[in-house]
Amino acid sequence: MQDFKNAINFSFPTNIQIGCGVVKNLGKHLKDRNFKEPLLVTDPIVAKLDFFKKIEHDLKKQGLNPEVFYDIHKNPVKSDVLKGKDYYINTKRDSIVGIGGGAGMDVARAIALSINHHRDLFDYDDLIGGDKYVTEEVPYFITIPTTSGTGSEVGRSAIISEDESKRKRILFSPKLLASQVFADPELTYGLPAYVTAATGMDALTHNMEAFLAKGYHPMADGIALEGASMIARSIEKAVQNPNDSNARGEMLLASLMGAVAFQKGLGIVHATAHPLSTLLDMHHGLANSMMIPYGMEYNSKGLENKFEQLQKALDTKLAVPDYLHTLKSKLELPEHLSELGVEGAHLDDLSELALKDFCLPANPREADITDLKKIYEQAL
Ligand SMILES: [Fe+2]
Repeated sequence: MQDFKNAINFSFPTNIQIGCGVVKNLGKHLKDRNFKEPLLVTDPIVAKLDFFKKIEHDLKKQGLNPEVFYDIHKNPVKSDVLKGKDYYINTKRDSIVGIGGGAGMDVARAIALSINHHRDLFDYDDLIGGDKYVTEEVPYFITIPTTSGTGSEVGRSAIISEDESKRKRILFSPKLLASQVFADPELTYGLPAYVTAATGMDALTHNMEAFLAKGYHPMADGIALEGASMIARSIEKAVQNPNDSNARGEMLLASLMGAVAFQKGLGIVHATAHPLSTLLDMHHGLANSMMIPYGMEYNSKGLENKFEQLQKALDTKLAVPDYLHTLKSKLELPEHLSELGVEGAHLDDLSELALKDFCLPANPREADITDLKKIYEQAL
């Protein structure tokens, strides 16, 4: 296993530095590039944590003048971004550092977009072709993940909801890639076991779905298989020994590998998980962990070769869906949707939403509304 006590540098496609304590390199990194007035963007929970206060303190000690913006929702909305933009301008910032899970980094990325792009924020929505308007430079942008799940630190999109309808909009452009990621396993030591388990299952889903997704992308496939393998050998250790730097390091790296790989596409697990969050406010990682054994069971028909490769990567003799059930029970994740308040009466609405989900078209096996309902019935 790689030793995460030392920093490792590589670039694919973002510059990434991973290792214990690398967050201490943020100040020098900014100063070397003549940035002195960074805006640190995070969420209200991370803003109160000791490591966050230490990051801010260390920057000040090194002669920088950071400001913090954390006035954002759990599912960020447009007005959060506009407030952050005003704060950036009013406090005369010169760079942006997104610190947190998906929400903090999404808002940081959207603020970065809004500084030199003056149309309505949702004119840049990728689903209506808005990426063509992303033509200007964005401020220097750094990401620092504090969970091992979304991999948003290496992403190039931000999901921001409309304030009233809560409809999710996707802002996307290669210009929104961070210039540098500092991935520090020590920042994830304090995560509660169930968050490590649920976000880790999200990362595992990204890697497995990216590997199975339609289309030709051997680079993504290779990354995804190795990412799945790393999670299989580290997730239990990270849940049971929260300060295991190597297990935490592998989880952090495998989660960002999943996000690099899912440029190829996702599939039926995310397509059936998203409606559980939209309709029933279920945590994204938990929703994926509920659907992954059943989605994988559905996909295994006709894809025997790919499932053999997955089985090897996961280092198991069990069939992949059985492996996933066993893993979930070791991680003490719930087995049935009914344990989480889902009822038979919800299944029609869930299936309708899953059918329209943007992740479904990349799934390797076609699914109609009857197939989707059957998958939910099995999971119930
Ligand atoms: Fe996900």
